[in-house]
Amino acid sequence: MINTKNFLEIISAIAKKIEAEKDFLTELDNEIGDGDHGINLARGFKSVEEKLPTLADKDIGAILKGVGMQLVSTVGGASGPLYGTAFMKAGNVCKGKTELTDEEFVAALDAAINGIKMRGKAVEGEKTMLDALCPAYKVPKDGIDGGKNLIDALTDAVDAAVDGVEYTKTIIATKGRASYLKERSLGHQDPGATSSLYMLQTTLEVLREA
Ligand SMILES: Nc1ncnc2c1ncn2[C@@H]1O[C@H](COP(=O)(O)OP(=O)(O)OP(=O)(O)O)[C@@H](O)[C@H]1O
Ligand SMILES: [Mg+2]
Repeated sequence: MINTKNFLEIISAIAKKIEAEKDFLTELDNEIGDGDHGINLARGFKSVEEKLPTLADKDIGAILKGVGMQLVSTVGGASGPLYGTAFMKAGNVCKGKTELTDEEFVAALDAAINGIKMRGKAVEGEKTMLDALCPAYKVPKDGIDGGKNLIDALTDAVDAAVDGVEYTKTIIATKGRASYLKERSLGHQDPGATSSLYMLQTTLEVLREA
């Protein structure tokens, strides 16, 4: 079971991780984008952290929705609306809940990823955050359906996301600013896939400790 407190801890830990990796994310975006990914995301998550106390007494759905709305209004660029939509869509499926089962947790992850696909009109293999996130949904879904506990399933998901980030180095970008570079985008790691990996890693770390 994952409760409200776990979610508040996850969000706060993600904010700290993004702040810590801000320069690296920006460096990655410098190579194939406009060098703002780390700066934008860190600004957004800082404002999320400041808003968290006002969400502390809310249910999981309302917390995730609040985070999403804050990201949309503070991050900007492509990733603001994309991550914002992801959190809001996850919030929709957790409406009114103060605890989630493992199955409900992966269902929320699925809703988040589908939100990104819809909003970004993108699929796997286009060198975006989806290359980290899509494998990181399939793997825990199969794990939990096969009887694994959430921590083990999420450990496999993080491994799959690491592979997904590596995979972005081998493909040409067809979405976002990086797509303007065509084959020159080859060899570079996608910044959005990297920040998605950080979010998944941080989620796992917090749940492991809980
Ligand atoms: N259509 C899309 N669908 C999914 N993810 C996308 C899409 N477009 C861009 N991204 C992701 O957003 C990341 C860039 O985020 P950033 O915060 O730098 O926004 P940006 O500078 O407006 O980006 P871009 O110029 O790529 O649109 C990329 O690394 C990629 O993972
Ligand atoms: Mg950018």
